[in-house]
Amino acid sequence: MAEASTTIFHVSDTHFGVEDRAAMAWFERAVRDERPDAVVCTGDLTQRATHKQYSAAAEWFSGLRVPIMLQPGNHDMPYYNLWERFRSPYARFGELEKAVGAQLDLDHALIIPFDTNVPAQMRWPWSDGVVTRKKLDAALGLLRELHDDPRPKIVACHHPLLPERDGVKNPTIRGDMAFAELAAAGATVVLTGHVHFPFDQIRSRDNFAMRMIGAGTLSTRLRKGAPPSFNILRIGRSGLIDVEQRNFVN
Ligand SMILES: [Fe+2]
Repeated sequence: MAEASTTIFHVSDTHFGVEDRAAMAWFERAVRDERPDAVVCTGDLTQRATHKQYSAAAEWFSGLRVPIMLQPGNHDMPYYNLWERFRSPYARFGELEKAVGAQLDLDHALIIPFDTNVPAQMRWPWSDGVVTRKKLDAALGLLRELHDDPRPKIVACHHPLLPERDGVKNPTIRGDMAFAELAAAGATVVLTGHVHFPFDQIRSRDNFAMRMIGAGTLSTRLRKGAPPSFNILRIGRSGLIDVEQRNFVN
């Protein structure tokens, strides 16, 4: 892309506690050498949300020395301390966010946070996504406020809003509804993690389309034979988004 662009490194599921140190070092080198405008991490920063894992995550993310935007994942709510999990699921995440998070101010992109986690739900596993009206309305409200801003509006959340392909059950409850409403409100891209393998698809619901970009993992929890990986988004002035999916080769 020849014109000036905004570069975002989209990473996910670092799972501190079971992180892949070699893959992390490889990512650190890429950040140091290529200086992206931002790193966006779409959740599961830790494996069990312990204080130790959170402090390792804080040290690592702040050491990258670029603007960081973090979203929580289902693994980022306290796992052993149920009282805290229900009472203030994001207290530990909030501390991390304060320590490393920055308000992103990107030339050619707007990032809209959207939370798809719940501390508990009426099914097992509790790890899958659930869209709540309140959290969806918060994201839609932000999109409404930014309605006249010409920059592409990129939603960042942990769980893919649609299943891997149409015609199969959506593991994210009310994900289809969220997809359609966010797209109708002007979002054009949704960045996610959770599944530990990368993808880049154009999908639609109710005649509204969005690009779904999923990042793999930098942890040892590999799935479907996918190696550790991350995505690089290059967004030009025209709003065109080029996505490079980069794999770690050990
Ligand atoms: Fe994960």
